Amino acid sequence: MKYTLSSLAPESLKTDCWIIPLFQDETPKVSGKIEQIISEQLKLGNISADLAQTSWVFNPPHCSAKRILLLGFGKRGSLTSLQAIAALRTGIREALAKKSTTALLALNSTSWPFASKAQTIEQITLAFSHTLYRFSAFKTDPPPRVISLKSLQFSVDKKEEKELKPALDRAVALSQGLDFVKDLANLPSNHCTPSTIAKSAVDLGKEYKSVKTTVLSIPEMKKLGMGGMLAVGQGSRQEPKFVIAHYEGAAKSHAPVALVGKGITFDSGGISLKPPTSMEEMKFDMCGAVTVLAAVKVAALLKLPLNIVAIAACAENMPGGNAIKPGDIITTLSGTTVEVINTDAEGRLVLSDALTYCARYKPKAIIDVATLTGSMLMALGLETSGFFSNDEDLAKSLTHSADQSLDEAWRMPLLEGYLADFKSGFADLANVAPHRWGGAIQAAVFLEHFVKETPWAHFDIAGTAWLRSGPEKGATGRPLGLLMHYLYEASQAK
Ligand code: BES
Ligand code: ZN
Ligand code: MN
Repeated sequence: MKYTLSSLAPESLKTDCWIIPLFQDETPKVSGKIEQIISEQLKLGNISADLAQTSWVFNPPHCSAKRILLLGFGKRGSLTSLQAIAALRTGIREALAKKSTTALLALNSTSWPFASKAQTIEQITLAFSHTLYRFSAFKTDPPPRVISLKSLQFSVDKKEEKELKPALDRAVALSQGLDFVKDLANLPSNHCTPSTIAKSAVDLGKEYKSVKTTVLSIPEMKKLGMGGMLAVGQGSRQEPKFVIAHYEGAAKSHAPVALVGKGITFDSGGISLKPPTSMEEMKFDMCGAVTVLAAVKVAALLKLPLNIVAIAACAENMPGGNAIKPGDIITTLSGTTVEVINTDAEGRLVLSDALTYCARYKPKAIIDVATLTGSMLMALGLETSGFFSNDEDLAKSLTHSADQSLDEAWRMPLLEGYLADFKSGFADLANVAPHRWGGAIQAAVFLEHFVKETPWAHFDIAGTAWLRSGPEKGATGRPLGLLMHYLYEASQAK
């Protein structure tokens, strides 16, 4: 896919499909003659500006486009950004089904339902790349691709071209990062083990000079005392891997941002086995890990001037003769001993070691990303990631990044008093509280115990990391958009 900007008038640009947004009670903002055609058809009721409705004008006069796709956004005032994105995806699916190889969107004279032109370019690019994405590696007879789109053109004002080009470049790089997450996360666990994730991180190091990858295996983890990583991995035939991808885009003296991801390539629950319903979805329990690696990939693509240490804490959580058992006591890397009451609360065990480990880089901030609790879904549902933070400035930046990237996230309270519920009669902490109320908050305060003073945020993406149904069922890549926005701004602030 090629994404380009052009400062020529949209009527003069050759394209298979020109996509024009329509709002109820507004005349479309296109050049006179085309506007007239659209207005007439609107009056006749042949086309509709209702939300997500699409209509075609074939062989339109007075322009070089073969067809025009009119995309309804309903009433501007009551339209949410998420509705706008959903409508955009619907429209794009239709445009793609008509075998267009090129598409055109004009930003100079039409107004899209986004906050700025940069955001419009970004959202449209992401919507195209999201709709184009296919995961058919395991279909012996994949359905024929009706999609033949090769290039997407944005028509913009000449004077804005220079300013909007970086926004386009960022969006294209982000879309490559999202594909990286989806490709790995959609793989089932027999094809994506901790070693698979480690290998793709090593490959990032080979692909980008600015990335150095280190992989710790069992002997190194034993030497360091990573009791959490080892305990979670010990029931599996697959070795756990602790993966560090270090991106250096700035001088070594710049404190890095540390990103930590939960990388459970399959979460069966272990001896505290999960019920069978939807257990296959637990192949996605590594989304956090591949998301932080993708952040390094995107930063390297864009050559962002900052340093990032991304840590992927990878293991497979299985029952077995050697698996950890309820009541077992482990010693984490921090020295804190933990009684494992429930082997299904494994994410916090691998993350505790990773959070302790990343302190050695003296990061200016730590952000972890994890499909950590079912409770998160209860609290915020499937569209909004929850995050927790011990630092007001960091939390503000992240909320701002969520707003700007339209990758929704909501700050949850870090209620430190809840740590008292992790009492153990035999160790420093238990890995679960005796009740499940506020389970997402409980997990967050457990993690905070391993962070100490550094500004830190924890994203629980159990609801948002994958779509459970529909044509795009599978990994979403979220919250990579939010993270990249944050990292971009962090790289600009000096
Ligand atoms: N990976 C799961 C959390 C999860 C559940 C993510 C559903 C997405 C959808 C995690 O390891 C887990 O099992 N959490 C337990 C914790 C409990 C035992 C305290 C949970 O949320 O039930
Ligand atoms: Zn899990
Ligand atoms: Mn679990």
